[in-house]
Amino acid sequence: MSLFNVYPLFDITPVTANDVYVYDDKGNEYLDLYGGHAVISIGHSHPTYVKNISEQVSKLGFYSNAIQNPLQVQLASELEEVSGCKDYQLFLCNSGAEANENALKLASFHTDKKKVIAFKNSFHGRTSAAVAATDNPKIVAPINAQQEVIFLEFEDVADVEKALQNNEVCAIIIETIQGVGGLDEATTAFYQHLEKLCNQYNTVLIADEIQCGFGRTGDFFAFQKHGITPHIISMAKGMGNGFPVGGILIHPSIKASFGLLGTTFGGNHLACAAALSVIETLKKEELMENVQQVSNYIMKQTATIPQITRVKGRGFMLGLEFDFPVAALRKKLIYEHHIFTGSAKNPNLLRILPPLTMQKQHIDVFFDALKKELK
Ligand SMILES: Cc1ncc(COP(=O)(O)O)c(C=O)c1O
Repeated sequence: MSLFNVYPLFDITPVTANDVYVYDDKGNEYLDLYGGHAVISIGHSHPTYVKNISEQVSKLGFYSNAIQNPLQVQLASELEEVSGCKDYQLFLCNSGAEANENALKLASFHTDKKKVIAFKNSFHGRTSAAVAATDNPKIVAPINAQQEVIFLEFEDVADVEKALQNNEVCAIIIETIQGVGGLDEATTAFYQHLEKLCNQYNTVLIADEIQCGFGRTGDFFAFQKHGITPHIISMAKGMGNGFPVGGILIHPSIKASFGLLGTTFGGNHLACAAALSVIETLKKEELMENVQQVSNYIMKQTATIPQITRVKGRGFMLGLEFDFPVAALRKKLIYEHHIFTGSAKNPNLLRILPPLTMQKQHIDVFFDALKKELK
């Protein structure tokens, strides 16, 4: 049987990994400035993570959501402490798309409305409502296109208000910092305006923190810089450091009832062990502080490369914009310098999404390679 061929693959076969390094089947070492697409948060094969998951699987790997699972309760409490999001409720699932799917569904249940406002260049996942709220017609199938989504520009307050006035919009969904769209972020004034309008028109504000959350910007959630209180916050990626786990934080104004949401695998014992290990390590190793320091260092280094015209994003969610398309440079970085980086919709943007453990000396290796290639 062949694989359904949907991924253009690099010819590299990783077999082991440790902290910020990945090793292939030929023994080559790669510096990971990509984090498996913003997934690796506390570093590959972190000892706490390996120990906790191994111990958990040897005791109980899975049981359904029909029984008591104290690990879920502990995770909710740890999340409240580390995020500072008081009195929210936690619902666990398995991926980013599923988190947004549940967020949108809950918004629709809560308001009894069905239209959604999303923003140009957004990416919210590949399933039903999540992909419909994604601004990329190539990945929206006819079955998804029946959802009613209005795509607007960041900063266009007037159009947002006009779209809300018919009282048909259940949710406004934002990526606080856009990922694949190219690292754009709206202003604090705009996000605060969205919050005000959502409260005025009984519309749920969903912050998609799947990529920018869980410490990646140096704050636990990226929206926190803007002083807003979203009704629902979606999480995944860095939450499990590679273990498939996602979730939504739900504001206390939205009430639960039996059967409203549900999943077989979501919140299983192993997923909870993974997410708890991530939070424990984020705190113990002060990784959000590390992100802030090392990110400032990256900013300084970018100033030494004249071909970099702009740096977008924050913390360890950065886009370096060059004055030329970067596809060939990215290939050279991988095959000749053994450094993984990411790409974006904008062909001139090189994305930097490293594990939150990345240190200045690793960044030096990256900039030395860049300088060699751009000389
Ligand atoms: C902002 C954002 N939302 C949602 C998703 C979808 O997550 P998943 O691939 O886990 O379904 C992604 C994945 O890249 C993302 O970056």
